Amino acid sequence: MSQARHVAIIMDGNGRWARQRHLPRIVGHQRGVEAVRRLVRAARAMGLEALTLYAFSTENWRRPEDEVSALMSLLKRFILSDLDEFVADNVRLKIIGDYRALPADVVGLIEEALARTARNTGSILAVALNYGAQDEIARAAARAAEKGAITPETIGAELDTADLPPLDLLIRTSGEVRLSNFLLWQAAYAELWFTDVLWPDFTPAHLEEALAAFARRERRYGGR
Ligand code: FPP
Repeated sequence: MSQARHVAIIMDGNGRWARQRHLPRIVGHQRGVEAVRRLVRAARAMGLEALTLYAFSTENWRRPEDEVSALMSLLKRFILSDLDEFVADNVRLKIIGDYRALPADVVGLIEEALARTARNTGSILAVALNYGAQDEIARAAARAAEKGAITPETIGAELDTADLPPLDLLIRTSGEVRLSNFLLWQAAYAELWFTDVLWPDFTPAHLEEALAAFARRERRYGGR
């Protein structure tokens, strides 16, 4: 059995969860944040070194303005309410994606959270914000070219995730079976696990189920 070190999740289905209950979409996102809280704690308890969550993509700017601003304020509230716990639990917060394009107050809070957790060594919570994998790969390739050679190794070393363990398992909720521009490079050898469960209903037991499936699979990295 191999133990996963790094799990990433595409948290999908908040809108459908709300629609099924005749509630506003934002309520689905609020419940989605509750699921994030549960999962972050559980991932730590399960011994994961890194958890990467797809919170806001480069494409999400196309959503209605009130939904975008509601997501930003949920993010702010999440940092304000949970940062002390991350500091106490030795969790290092990391952002992948170009978060500096977010509203200035969100950027300020993020930078405070990054600074306060920078020296933590217990586990890593990476949040993807204004993230798109093609954009990440293009930025990494440009930096690699500036330094000399473009190879898989030099690009890999310039990715936003360069300081994270290799991605072992990528989970997507809500029944969609695609990667939606998330961690395309890092997914090269990751196991993929899809579930119909909508994100607000995702529990630590589902994560355990995915990890157990991962442990049963034999990874050959193209060899035999
Ligand atoms: C997908 O549901 C979810 C998102 C686009 C946003 C995910 C954000 C959160 C869970 C909250 C903020 C995160 C943190 C880390 C505090 P959808 O709206 O695409 O659902 P649908 O496909 O059913 O409409």
